[in-house]
Amino acid sequence: MTTQVEMSSGIQIGDVAMVVDGAELTAAGGWIDVESPRDGSIIGRVPRGDADEIDVAVAAARRAFSSWRDVPSRERGRALSEIAEALVPELEKIARICSLENGNALRTQTRGEAAFVVDCFRYFAGLAQEAKGETVPVRSDVLDYSRREPLGVVGAIIPWNAPLMLAAVKIAPALAMGNTMVMKVAEEAPFSVLEMARICQQHLPAGVLNIVTGYGREAGEALTSHQDISKLSFTGSTAVGKRVMEKGAERIVPVSLELGGKSPQIVFPDANEDWIVQGVIAGMRFFRQGQSCTAGSRLFVHRDIVESFTEKLVEALAALKVGDPLDETSDMGSIVNRTQYDKVCSYIADGLGQPGAKLLAGGIPDGQGPRFSVPPTVIGGVDNTWRLAREEIFGPVVVVIPWGEEDEVVSMANDSHYGLAAFVWSTDIGRALRTAHRVEAGWVQINQGAGQALGQSYGGFKQSGIGREFSLEGMLNSYTQQKHISVNLIH
Ligand code: NAI
Ligand code: MG
Repeated sequence: MTTQVEMSSGIQIGDVAMVVDGAELTAAGGWIDVESPRDGSIIGRVPRGDADEIDVAVAAARRAFSSWRDVPSRERGRALSEIAEALVPELEKIARICSLENGNALRTQTRGEAAFVVDCFRYFAGLAQEAKGETVPVRSDVLDYSRREPLGVVGAIIPWNAPLMLAAVKIAPALAMGNTMVMKVAEEAPFSVLEMARICQQHLPAGVLNIVTGYGREAGEALTSHQDISKLSFTGSTAVGKRVMEKGAERIVPVSLELGGKSPQIVFPDANEDWIVQGVIAGMRFFRQGQSCTAGSRLFVHRDIVESFTEKLVEALAALKVGDPLDETSDMGSIVNRTQYDKVCSYIADGLGQPGAKLLAGGIPDGQGPRFSVPPTVIGGVDNTWRLAREEIFGPVVVVIPWGEEDEVVSMANDSHYGLAAFVWSTDIGRALRTAHRVEAGWVQINQGAGQALGQSYGGFKQSGIGREFSLEGMLNSYTQQKHISVNLIH
C-alpha cells in the first residue's frame, strides 16, 4: 500500500487495499480508478469489492464480535482514546488526502474535519462506560433491571462529501458499545478513511473495524442484503436511504438514516447586518461548495430588506476565492466529480429558465476557472414551488425568496419533504424562538451557521432521516439494544 502523498504536482496515492480482518484485502473484481476533481488525474485505485469481499468482511466482523462485545467497556474506551492520540500527528496528511479526493478546500474544510475526527474518538471514548441500564420497582421481592447490549455487526455506508467526519461519527459510537463494523466508503473518496482505518487497526483486534470499497450497486447492496448484519447505518441521498430501509425491512434490521435536506434560512427585517450575511454564507455551506446535507439553500428574506440584504450578500460572496483545494488561499474548492458538476449546472440552467428568475451572483461557469468549480451563485425572484427551491442541488446555489408575514414564511419553510436543518436570523429573541419551535427540522440554529457539535442529537425530520448521531443518546439508541431481566428474589 502506497500512502505517500506528495504535496506538489504529480500527486500519487497509488493502489490502496481494503482493510478487512486486520489485513489488506483486494478484490477479484479488479480496481476502481479514483480521480481528483482538482486536476482530473487518477490519484490512485481501490478494489472493486462485491458480494464476495463483503462476505469475507462480515464473517471477520462476526468472529470479532464474539469477543469484542465482552471486552470491558473501559478497555474499549481506552482503545478509542489511543486511536485519537495516534491520529493527531497524521491529521495534516489525512486532510490533504481528503482535499485531493473530494475537492474540498484544505484551509476552510478538510483540516477542521480531520481535527473533528480526533474530538469524536475522544468524546465517545469517554462515553464507553455510559451504557447504563435501569431498574424497575415492580415489587420489593423482584429485581427487574435492564442491560444495554451491542447489536452485532453494523453495516455502515457513507458518502464522499465529508467522509472523515461521517466515518468517525459511526465508527466511534458503534465500537464503544461493543459492536463491530463493516463500513463501505464512497467510490469517489475512499482514501482518507482508509488511511484513518489503517491507524485504527493498530489499536483494535482484527475484524472489529473493516473498511470495504466498491460501487453502491455492488458492494453497497451486498452489505445491506447480508444476513449477518444486525444494524444498518447510512448517510447519503434520500433515494438510496429508501433502498437501505427496504433492505432492512426484509429482515427487520434497525436502520439509521442521515439523508438530504433543503434547509430554510429565515431572515427577519431587523437582521439586515453584515455579520448576519456572513452567518448566512456559513449556513449555506458555501465553503464546501454547498455539498452538505445541512446547507441552508432556501433564503427567505423579509421583503422590507430583501434588496439591501441581497446586495450585501452578493458583495460578500465576491470576496470568496474559488481555487485549487490544496491552495491555502482558496476559500472554496471543486465540485466532487463531473456528474455532480453537470447536475449543479443543470439546476442553475433550469432555474434561470423560469419566468421572473434573476441571476444575482455566480451562475454557470464559463470554463475559465479551476476544474469543476462553480462560483457562489445567488438566484432571486424564485418561487418556493420551483424545482430549484424543492430539490437538493448539492452545489453552491442559494435561492432568495421574499416574504411578508411570519405565518407565511413558516409555512413556506415547512413546505418541503425534507426537515434536516434550519436557520433563523433575528435579534428579537421571542420571535426567533417562536419561529424555531414552529419550523419542522431536526436542528434549528438562531443567529449562527455553525457545524454540528458533539453532544447534540443530530438528525432529520420527515424524509431527511431516522435516528440521531453525535450524542450519548444517539449512541445508545442507534448502537445498543435493551434487554430486561426480571428476577424473583424469593424462590
Ligand atoms: P448516494 O446516496 O448514491 O451515495 C452515498 C453512498 O451510498 C455511497 O457510498 C454509494 O456507493 C452508496 N450507495 C449507492 N447506491 C447504493 C445502494 N443501492 N445500496 C447501498 N449503497 C449504495 O449519493 P451520490 O450518488 O454520491 O450523490 C447523489 C446525490 O445525493 C447528491 O447530489 C446529493 O443530493 C445527495 N447526497 C446527500 C448527502 C448527504 O449527506 N445528505 C451525501 C451525498 C449525496
Ligand atoms: Mg449514487
